[in-house]
Amino acid sequence: MTTDTTTQGNAPGATTPGRTVLDARGVTMRFGGLTAVRGVDLTVNSGEIVGLIGPNGAGKTTFFNCLTGLYTPTEGEVRYQGQLLPPKSFKVTAAGIARTFQNIRLFANMTVLENVLVGRHTRTKEGFWSAVLRGPGFHRAEKASRARAMELLDFVGLAAKADHLARNLPYGEQRKLEIARALASEPGLLLLDEPTAGMNPQETRATEELVFAIRDQGIAVLVIEHDMRFIFNLCDRVAVLVQGEKLVEGDSATVQGDDRVVAAYLGEPLDNDPGAAEAAEVEAAEAHAGTHAGTPADPGTPADPDPAAGQQNKETDR
Ligand SMILES: Nc1ncnc2c1ncn2[C@@H]1O[C@H](COP(=O)(O)OP(=O)(O)O)[C@@H](O)[C@H]1O
Ligand SMILES: [Mg+2]
Repeated sequence: MTTDTTTQGNAPGATTPGRTVLDARGVTMRFGGLTAVRGVDLTVNSGEIVGLIGPNGAGKTTFFNCLTGLYTPTEGEVRYQGQLLPPKSFKVTAAGIARTFQNIRLFANMTVLENVLVGRHTRTKEGFWSAVLRGPGFHRAEKASRARAMELLDFVGLAAKADHLARNLPYGEQRKLEIARALASEPGLLLLDEPTAGMNPQETRATEELVFAIRDQGIAVLVIEHDMRFIFNLCDRVAVLVQGEKLVEGDSATVQGDDRVVAAYLGEPLDNDPGAAEAAEVEAAEAHAGTHAGTPADPGTPADPDPAAGQQNKETDR
């Protein structure tokens, strides 16, 4: 299979140390009368892990969608390594930003390896005719792509399941597979939308290690998460979104000590909770994964003995 050295070098998409990788300025996203994101500035530098937190419905996923070309922001600009990003998902991926989704998006009936190969399409030079004619160039490229995909599966700990159908993986492994697929586009910046949602504490700790390993490969990370212990362990900087606006930004100690952040998390739940539908979907996915794997995830079990973190974790459980 693969050797250890392959997981230690710099990733192909690694960015130059000390540079601003992502520069979002004044990003606003309106849906009709609703302003989901309002004038948000955020930078991510090379070598950094930055956290984005906030109550359900705060606009975190919408902000990610603005960064990745899924939405065209109503106002504002997003630059990746100094270049203005085109508002098209595949162009953003080609530029070097990859992401995972809050609601897992895998090809359920494809194998684990095939899912990663799909993630490589922006990096394979062989075009349509080459694929149709299946000449030597195509076979060489395909072999290289498979080798890289296996390397990435090894990196996330799924190499032994390369031939399994994605839908048969337990929930936590599906999340890992999404990360491998995102890495397959050889990004310089990885955006993770709630990567530990539905995971048990052991899986969450393992994901923490995985994110550190990704950062160590030279890939900057921007992560949305509700698990505060995960965020504060992992992130160099944390930004807090509340009702579409950036309330506070700083290192873990600054954010944890900010009264406004505590108030935002402990305040009354928003009327007409927009996160409820997604939470229900995640629960359904967990139940589904549990049926297949025989290891049901248990979102009701307190994941964290720390009472403060427990209070904050309520957000996901609503
Ligand atoms: N495509 C959309 N059309 C209309 N409203 C949307 C759309 N996407 C998100 N919203 C609204 O934007 C707000 C922010 O949602 P979201 O970004 O999903 O929050 P978060 O990820 O922080 O929980 C919510 O009020 C949500 O209902
Ligand atoms: Mg979200």
